[in-house]
Amino acid sequence: MQFSLSPANLSAWSGSVLVVGVHEQDPQGLIGELETRLGLAIAPWLERQRFQGKGGELAKLQLLRPEISSLILVGLGAAASPQLPALRQAAANAAKACNAESGSVGVLLPWSEQPAQATAEALSVAEAIRLALYSDVRFRSKPDPRTLPERFELLGTLPADTASALERVGAICAGVELARELVAAPPNSVTPAALADSAATIAQAHGLELKVLERADCAKRGMGAYLAVSQGSDLDPKFIHLTYRPNGALRKRLVLVGKGLTFDSGGYNLKVGAAQIDMMKYDMGGSAAVIGAMRAIAELRPEGVEVHMLVASCENMVNGSAVHPGDIVTASNGTTIEINNTDAEGRLTLADALVYASELKPDAIVDLATLTGACVIALGEEIAGLWSDHDDLADGLRQAAEQAGEGLWRMPMQSSYREGLKSLLADLKNTGPRPGGSITAALFLREFVDREIPWAHMDIAGTVWSDKGRGLDPAGATGYGVRTLVNWICGGGAGANA
Ligand code: BES
Ligand code: MN
Ligand code: ZN
Repeated sequence: MQFSLSPANLSAWSGSVLVVGVHEQDPQGLIGELETRLGLAIAPWLERQRFQGKGGELAKLQLLRPEISSLILVGLGAAASPQLPALRQAAANAAKACNAESGSVGVLLPWSEQPAQATAEALSVAEAIRLALYSDVRFRSKPDPRTLPERFELLGTLPADTASALERVGAICAGVELARELVAAPPNSVTPAALADSAATIAQAHGLELKVLERADCAKRGMGAYLAVSQGSDLDPKFIHLTYRPNGALRKRLVLVGKGLTFDSGGYNLKVGAAQIDMMKYDMGGSAAVIGAMRAIAELRPEGVEVHMLVASCENMVNGSAVHPGDIVTASNGTTIEINNTDAEGRLTLADALVYASELKPDAIVDLATLTGACVIALGEEIAGLWSDHDDLADGLRQAAEQAGEGLWRMPMQSSYREGLKSLLADLKNTGPRPGGSITAALFLREFVDREIPWAHMDIAGTVWSDKGRGLDPAGATGYGVRTLVNWICGGGAGANA
């Protein structure tokens, strides 16, 4: 799928589908222009369709003309409401209506008059189109035949440098799609070894460095918290360390950490009742986000930033060697942990990964994890939680998320709740009381980060999956986090704020 700028205006463009975005009340008078261009009474037809231009609303008309075969009008809502989310949603809906079309699609939207903003809009629209048209047929024996348009041409006035900016879209979307594929794949396909292979593929294709620590290597480093989680599984744990090094001078070193539980049964605190054990293949959503982001970063090659990706990958299973509820283990920084709940396993794997991250002496650490059901209760499925003691880092990530159209809300790091993690015997227990469960989880993680290093934690338990699909996301895995991370690292956010 290609994206390009077209110099043609409404009166000159020809191709297979013409998509036109209109605000409520059509302040630009686009419908009048279309009537002239096509010689058709569009306004009365729209009235019969009860099309009002509300956000994402669609009307499709088969023209069957050699120069334009169909017309899609898509609503943008009130002209005064924020542009970017409206454009993104309109582009995604229109793209879905182009499913089964071939050839080229012209997309005419009311781009901002401000050049940098107009370029950002064009990028978002291209991303929205490609991501909305994604479908996953890897596991069908006979996939339905499907055609898609080959080309999307952005019409209207856009700055010339938008064309080169559009070249980034392919890399970013390939990262999101990789993350979606890793999350959606079943747990008998995406294993810890498969995650390591996926990192190896990126390393080979783009010349990144890869180190995979085996169980014995992790034991040597004293990663007792991580290995305790993996010990009930027949599959070997894989601690994955992938590194992107830029050409030229180094300005920043960043570490991305992703929770990589390829299946979370809960362990002896087995997930029962409403806990949705059957969905726990997506408990590696954090690792998918950081692997997807690395794929994009490897291709975009940002200057001056070295990026390390860490995933302490394993399964949380039950067998005769599995951790008992009540076991006390020692993490690689010497902290002893009483495992009072084997289902709070993500934080145990992250603990050792965060100690390792701190040893790299980076300028910032960001972890992404499907960590708590409590975060889903607090923020729902469209917003991830963000915890950080560093305002600049938190703001940089929030801005990157906003630009990506990914929901992210800063949550409190309530230090007094650390009381809830006190153990009678060990330094800490891994689970506090149920109220505020996503906050105590963040406080637990903080114990393993060097306090000198700015660190942020994103709980993405709600956002990795969408049963029905939403926004640009078809039903299933969303690939949440990739675009936020890429914007943060490649869009100057990390450089400016980390
Ligand atoms: N992977 C789960 C969190 C989760 C829950 C992700 C729902 C997505 C949807 C995590 O390992 C977990 O089980 N957390 C427990 C923690 C509790 C035992 C303190 C939870 O949230 O119930
Ligand atoms: Mn769990
Ligand atoms: Zn989990």
